[in-house]
Amino acid sequence: MAKAKTYYFCRECGYQSSGWLGRCPECGKWNTFDEEVVQSVAHATPQAKGRGQVASLPKRIQDVESNATQRWTTRCDELDRVLGGGIVPGSLLLLGGEPGIGKSTLLLQTALVMSHVRILYVSGEESEEQIKMRADRIAGTGKPEECYVVSETVMERIFEHIDAVKPQLVIVDSIQTVTTETVESGAGSISQIRECTTQLQRYAKESNVPVLLVGHITKDGTLAGPKVMEHIVDAVLQFEGDRNYGFRILRALKNRFGSTAEIGIFEMRGNGLCEVSNPSALLLSHRDEQLSGAAVAATLEGVRPMFVEVQSLVSSAVYGTPQRNANGFDMRRMNMLLAVLEKRCGFKLGAKDVFLNMAGGLRVSDPALDLAVACSILSSNVDIAVSPRYCFAAEVGLSGEVRPVSRIGSRVGEAARLGFERIFISKYDTRNLGNERQGIEVVAVGVIEEAFRALFS
Ligand code: TYD
Ligand code: MG
Repeated sequence: MAKAKTYYFCRECGYQSSGWLGRCPECGKWNTFDEEVVQSVAHATPQAKGRGQVASLPKRIQDVESNATQRWTTRCDELDRVLGGGIVPGSLLLLGGEPGIGKSTLLLQTALVMSHVRILYVSGEESEEQIKMRADRIAGTGKPEECYVVSETVMERIFEHIDAVKPQLVIVDSIQTVTTETVESGAGSISQIRECTTQLQRYAKESNVPVLLVGHITKDGTLAGPKVMEHIVDAVLQFEGDRNYGFRILRALKNRFGSTAEIGIFEMRGNGLCEVSNPSALLLSHRDEQLSGAAVAATLEGVRPMFVEVQSLVSSAVYGTPQRNANGFDMRRMNMLLAVLEKRCGFKLGAKDVFLNMAGGLRVSDPALDLAVACSILSSNVDIAVSPRYCFAAEVGLSGEVRPVSRIGSRVGEAARLGFERIFISKYDTRNLGNERQGIEVVAVGVIEEAFRALFS
């Protein structure tokens, strides 16, 4: 029996200490240390010591073969886009997301359509029958010939399955459920996650087989397990969206082989995830009625234009303290915009309840939303509708100035393409416009009052 040792690990950053500490010297968080029993590696199985360690010799950089072009397409444009063109052989990818968001569905669906590669799908959460049931539910997947599924949680046995199947792509759902015999603490503990991720990374690098991991997310939205896992893997993808709506956004938080600006958009349907190549058309509510409190923002997610309808409701506060609520938008930013409107436009919003919502349940963080948010609040306040054929793209500064935003050309171009009549932008942005302004009326404003006057008087 191997010698067992007890260590303490910081839940936040994975810092290891031989004794309990109240405050982590690495990340500074309080009360984050957990005790874990770790078996000494001296008696560990050969796998754990390093699977088939090959000595690699230093090479001159010009002699190293570049395999950048050899990406494997996942046959899903949205996923390929986020990955930077496909899966790089030998890479270790982590897919995070809240429970029930669709991580398993996305990966199983990918495994089913990638019929050109031999895939081993290891699930620690579902039995083979349950995986099959899910696969039956996902329609239109073609005919996977070599997609092997196995329900397994022990790392050593997963490597046996890998040796038997010799897959070209391995999927592990989820890293929190697998354990290695070399570490004694339970599944999902920091030392287990760290050790299993390291073993899989070693396997991926040595065999040139890409490995896709699913990772759970904690209550506060970070990937469960220490930050060290994010350092080990080559790319961290996050799957997010409101579970009550069908839309899902896939973002790259880190990508060693591509840009982190790209996003993929999916819709969860009864028969699996559907790619959404034209999100604007879906996110706009296509209303005919003139309703106050709605304004369309021309936002960009990464490099993709996405038009979102901002809805707000301003009403007199019944209770002493006015209620403020924002769905899909930063509350602090909303409070700042309310203060700007109060100071610059003279609206007494301090005594009003303000509710803000992004249609479609998506969380957008583009500063270009500001002008649409401000105009939608003003529209609800004065109870005059903003035409659904108008859209907005500008940031609002603290003194009420309307500021330029990135890539105004693609926003205006997309607005014209979608058939909007007018787009409100910052006057400092007009010089960045080329011939995109043809087919749409561009209204350039310098301060928020100008936008208000143009719309409501
Ligand atoms: P799942 O992939 O199990 O989520 P995760 O692995 O991230 O926890 O997704 C589960 C949800 O997706 C579940 O609530 C049911 C729904 N779903 C569909 O709407 N359509 C489908 O075709 C499938 C397979 C799941
Ligand atoms: Mg799952």
